[in-house]
Amino acid sequence: MSTAALPETLAPAAAPARDGGALACRDVSVAFGPTLVLEDVSLDVRPGEVHVLIGPNGAGKTTLANVISGHVSARAGSVTLDGVPLSGPPHRRARRGLGRKFQIPRVFPRLSAREQLELAAPDADVSGLEPQLRELGDTPGAELSHGWRQWVELQMVLLQRPSVIVLDEPTAGMPRSERGALANAIEAVPFGSFLVVEHDLDFVARIADRVSFMHNGRLLRTGRFAELAGDPLVREAYMGTSAHAG
Ligand SMILES: Nc1ncnc2c1ncn2[C@@H]1O[C@H](COP(=O)(O)OP(=O)(O)OP(=O)(O)O)[C@@H](O)[C@H]1O
Ligand SMILES: [Mg+2]
Repeated sequence: MSTAALPETLAPAAAPARDGGALACRDVSVAFGPTLVLEDVSLDVRPGEVHVLIGPNGAGKTTLANVISGHVSARAGSVTLDGVPLSGPPHRRARRGLGRKFQIPRVFPRLSAREQLELAAPDADVSGLEPQLRELGDTPGAELSHGWRQWVELQMVLLQRPSVIVLDEPTAGMPRSERGALANAIEAVPFGSFLVVEHDLDFVARIADRVSFMHNGRLLRTGRFAELAGDPLVREAYMGTSAHAG
């Protein structure tokens, strides 16, 4: 097991201005059988922003991420990237510039971090990642700490240079001590717009340009973190419940 902590030197202190895609969801509804799990959800991720989706367990956050990436079909509504409909299976959306990281890191157990990255993006320039790759050396994926696994999977997505990056609970299962480095890593990415599903409100406060709040399949609020944190509806439905990595 690699016990190395993620280096705090991953990032500059200030978030860079980024170029990124404009993602728009309009009136998206999803039903699983007779159950409506998303109802008329509209959400804009502005170019270059970090937009965080919060809400209680079962609110529909992952389902919305799955609609965007093409893993779940909406029964109504639309998703566009830079004004052009985003449709078809996940790989087609990836080619349009949509990057998706799942909640459970999908790293190959026997490959080193360098091999994983070479496999994900054979032509990509990994020179910017050399300090971390040297530190990890030949450690196979199965022996990486959870934080490093998250880091490897994030880099596998980023090496494709997506214009919109969707992350579902990137801190899940990660010790608090490693979350600051992950926030640094996200802030340091010089391109892309981010949509991040997250329960850890300290982490949300740290990375979010804007936050949207979902509850029972509806998107009820969008604003700055401080605005939502002070909103009685959000406080009652979410802040009062115990956050959990679901
Ligand atoms: N494949 C599925 N079939 C049936 N119901 C599903 C399916 N996936 C999700 N659901 C239901 O849809 C609702 C929304 O689930 P979703 O996973 O999107 O919530 P979430 O906001 O991501 O929750 P969490 O914070 O726990 O991850 C839940 O009631 C869930 O049980
Ligand atoms: Mg979820």
